Amino acid sequence: MLHPILDAVREAGQIILSAHDVQVSSKEGIGNFVTTYDVKVQSFLREKLLSIVPDAHFVGEEDKVHDDALHGLAFIVDPIDCTANFVRGMKHSAVSVALARDGVLILGAVYNPYRDEMFYAELGKGAFLNGTPIHVSDRTLSEGVFCIGTSPYHRSLRERTMTIAGRLMERMQDLRRFGSAALDLTDIACGRVELGFECILQPWDFAGGAIILTEAGGRITQLDGSPITLDRPCSILSGNPLAHRAFLEESLAK
Ligand code: IPD
Ligand code: CA
Ligand code: CA
Ligand code: CA
Repeated sequence: MLHPILDAVREAGQIILSAHDVQVSSKEGIGNFVTTYDVKVQSFLREKLLSIVPDAHFVGEEDKVHDDALHGLAFIVDPIDCTANFVRGMKHSAVSVALARDGVLILGAVYNPYRDEMFYAELGKGAFLNGTPIHVSDRTLSEGVFCIGTSPYHRSLRERTMTIAGRLMERMQDLRRFGSAALDLTDIACGRVELGFECILQPWDFAGGAIILTEAGGRITQLDGSPITLDRPCSILSGNPLAHRAFLEESLAK
């Protein structure tokens, strides 16, 4: 099952690379866009993934009504994570696919087509980047770099985001804001970054990256340390075990 899914995700990435005449329209919230390619890539993935696992549910960001992610098998799909980077030609967006069984993540694939980087993991089998095993770094909080998501479509969360980021700037070496929540998780998984957080994310933003991160030895919870949810939005705190534990012990989100 893994390899056909990775092939589909890689092919979806080729659709992103081939994009031309991209039409952009607005969704609910501030600066929230959807393009003809978000829709095109999602339709492609729906067809391919359901041909591999026909009895699975399919939860895709661009659907009007979202399918059941908690019962039986369910794909959780973000066709283009960071549409804003895609629209602006930033070359830092990803295809994110997760497969859950009865609400437990069993497989994840996050692909950055611009760098041809395929991150993937299966439950209990470790995490990989282009076939090579990956692991989180062993840097402590004070030795680490952190990345943030700014919950861009929720203006009311900006102050809280900046408060937490300000505390982390006092405790850590530096801050990054790359734009793709999925790639933030895989950057932590392969040891490029030590910690990340976002005050609200949707399951399709983090599901694929979550299992890659945990299989790479990392931790992912909500900001208060409680478990993430696959059927509704939640906050995200992700990191290597040292940085993640220190964040919670020092109550940096209180
Ligand atoms: C967004 C990106 C961004 C994060 C937002 C997400 P989208 O996803 O992951 O990094 O800050 O909260 O919604 O809408 O571009 O797929
Ligand atoms: Ca979106
Ligand atoms: Ca997303
Ligand atoms: Ca998206």
